Parts: sequence; C-alpha cells; structure tokens
Amino acid sequence: MPGRKSSVFSRRLDPPLPVAVSGEGVWIVDADGKRYLDASGGAVVVNLGHGRKEIAQAVGEQLGRLYYAHPTMFTCQPAEDLAAALAAHTPGDLNRVYFMTSGSEANETAIKLAHQIHQAQGRPEKTILISRWRSYHGLTMGALAAAGRPAFRVPYMSMLHDAVHIPPPYCLRCSYGLKQPGCGLRCALALDETIQNLGAQVVSAFLIEPVSGATLASYPPPEGYLALVREICSHHGVLLIFDEVMTGMGRTGSWFAGGRYGVTADMMTMGKGLTGGSLPLSAVAVREPLYQDLKSGLGAFSHGGTYSHHPVGCAAGLAAVRILEDEALVERADRMGQFLGGKLHEHLDDSPFVGDVRGVGMLWGVEFVADKKTLAPFPRSEKVTERLWSHLFDEGIIVYKAVGLAGTHGDALVVSPPFIIEEEQILRVAQAIKKAVVEVLG
Ligand SMILES: Cc1ncc(COP(=O)(O)O)c(C=O)c1O
Repeated sequence: MPGRKSSVFSRRLDPPLPVAVSGEGVWIVDADGKRYLDASGGAVVVNLGHGRKEIAQAVGEQLGRLYYAHPTMFTCQPAEDLAAALAAHTPGDLNRVYFMTSGSEANETAIKLAHQIHQAQGRPEKTILISRWRSYHGLTMGALAAAGRPAFRVPYMSMLHDAVHIPPPYCLRCSYGLKQPGCGLRCALALDETIQNLGAQVVSAFLIEPVSGATLASYPPPEGYLALVREICSHHGVLLIFDEVMTGMGRTGSWFAGGRYGVTADMMTMGKGLTGGSLPLSAVAVREPLYQDLKSGLGAFSHGGTYSHHPVGCAAGLAAVRILEDEALVERADRMGQFLGGKLHEHLDDSPFVGDVRGVGMLWGVEFVADKKTLAPFPRSEKVTERLWSHLFDEGIIVYKAVGLAGTHGDALVVSPPFIIEEEQILRVAQAIKKAVVEVLG
C-alpha cells in the first residue's frame, strides 16, 4: 500500500508494491480489492491455478504428522511417493530423484552431481561445464556462472568460476547469420566444436533449457536441435542436463519438454510448477545407470542441504502431481496452449511493433521490435517491456518480462497462464496486450 512503512527488503526498491492477499483460479486479489488475471502464473510457476484446496489440505496434514526429519537420518513417505510419481512421467530412465528447494539449487546440484558421476566412473578431470548464452539457470554462483544473461552475470563476473558458453538456437536472431532450414544446425555443431577445442576429456556436462524460457521469451528449439546435441554429448561422454525448471510439470503441453521432443537427457532439473507454487521445492532426476555408477564408484554424493527432501514440500509436490493427473491438465495445457498461441497470433501478428510470436504448450512469447522488416530492437533505454508490463498490470493483467534478447537490447513479454485458464480469459489477455501495444507504442 503506497505510503506504508515497511521493514521488508523488497525485490523492488522503487515505489511500494501492492499487497497480495488472496488467490483463486487465475486471479490474485490485492488489499484494495483489485483483481489481477495472472496470465504468467507469476514467474511461470502457478500451473494449477491459485488457491488449490487439495494442496493446502495435503500440506496441513503433513505439517500435523511430521514436518522435519533430517534427510541423512530418515527418508519420508512424501519424498518416496513423489519420486515414484515423477519417475512415472520423466522420459526414459530418469528415475532417481533428489529434492532441493529452488531451481537454482537444483541446477547447482546437477552441476556437482555430473562431476561426481565422472569421478565415480574414473574420470575426475571432467570438470568443465558448457552452457549457452541467453539462458538462465539461477542465482547461486554455479548456476549463475552457467547462465548466459549478461545483465545478471556482469555485476558478479569477477567472482564467477565461469562456464563456457555457446550461442543458443535463436533462429530469429541467429548468431551465425544463417536461416532455417539449410543452416545445418550450426548452433548445435558449435557444441561439438567447443568440446573438441577444450578436449572431451575435461568436459563434464552441457546444461541447457530445452525450450528457452524467460531470457528468450519462450523460444522452442529448431527441429532436430535437441536430438543432435544428445548425439554429440553421447559421442564425447559429456552429460546432457536439461534445465526443466520452467518447462517441466506440463508447461510445454507434455510432462517434460524432453518427452515432448523425444530426447532423454542424463539429468533433468525441475522446480517452479513442481508444487504449483504452493511451497519451495525443486528436484534433479538422474538416469538410473548413472545413479548406480555413483553408488558403486563413490558410495555417496558429497552434497546436501538442511531442507532437502523436505516432507512438507514433497507432500505439496505429490498433491500437485495428482491434480495434474486427475484433471488431465497436461493434456489441457497442450490444447489450451494452441488456442492461446492462435489468439496471440490473431491479435498481434499485424502490429508494426511485434517482431515475433512464438511458443509451445502454455509457454508463449511476444517479441517487440522498432522495425518489423529488419527486426531492429528498441534501445533498452526506452524500457518498452517495462512500460508495456506496467500498463497491463494497471489494467489488471499479469504477464512476465523478458529483456536483453538482442545483445543488451530487445524486449518481450512471456504469456504463461495456469493450465485451467478458460478461452474467454485467454481472449481477454490477447486483447489487452494488443491494446497496450497501441496505447504505449502508438
Ligand atoms: C530455466 C530456469 N532455471 C532455473 C531458474 C532458477 O530457479 P529459482 O528462481 O527457483 O532458483 C529459473 C528461474 O527463473 C529458470 O527459469
């Protein structure tokens, strides 16, 4: 509430934020009674809609039964049940699940686990991580070093033990100036080249978002890209890690993007929608044979956290998985996602300031440009994304910001509503974005 005194070190240091007091379905209500249609599920988190009573009940029951038992001393039923429930949906033999609390920690865990697997297999010198520019993997130092988003990295650059970055598959602004089809997937071949340049014997893993999330505003991989990087990694004994923190749990209209594109990574991280946003929980799924190698080679994973495998977090995760299954929400995400994409195209393709509308499942992006022909971006100083976002927020529509898609410039909005959204609400979101573009950009 404007003018109130606060001791909170807020995520934003500029004028006070509205106070969110309740949520139901696609709606968030603030302390003034204003209703917001949450068309991004916050940061692509709220897959099931707000205010799910089933989750509240499962969490309440688990809190009453047992809320903490140290994960090196006990396992707990919610962790056992959630791991089994996830393993039923993960691609291939990604069957062993290690629980943490945030997406950053899940990626941190996967980076360390990759190295320990190599150690267990007798190749301790395999330590170098390769990742991609225009990616995000988290705020912790290892995950941030893997991330390829300069605005987040540059302030801490001198502190990072950096990963080696290669260009992303961003065909709209191809780093090699090539066009699809006919480019030969040069961006995937860059992985092979980089591994050879470094020496495969020192490369540990390749960490990527299978569908580029917030940094490239929901950019799906070009056909054949994921299969080719899978082949290259297998050829060089490099572990492939899919960061499915954003794309997992049905977001792409499949349980996991790896499944959607028919590619099984060696490890897969998840977070965000894992509990539908109700509690902080993340996870790493690792292929069973690699887990067995670790077990027989080292006998332990040198890693751990006070709140890993948390009973209450896992109870929330299990309740969320059951909702996805019982209400067939992954299938709905696929179906309604096509409707959402169609409406965004219908309302925005003709705008002189919209350079691209793209996405998959319930993960869509709208990229704004100063010149539709050349795709020249607006200068970042014009803060186009922020102005559009604020306009929509004032109108009671929540979307998610993406900036820096074109060098230090580039503007986009991510549209990623809860899977339960109705057609008429999707229509309202598409119309609101169209109106915002006209009113803000002319
Ligand atoms: C793809 C991806 N990986 C990792 C993270 C980090 O997750 P968290 O913010 O839960 O630490 C994010 C967060 O936005 C993300 O989008």
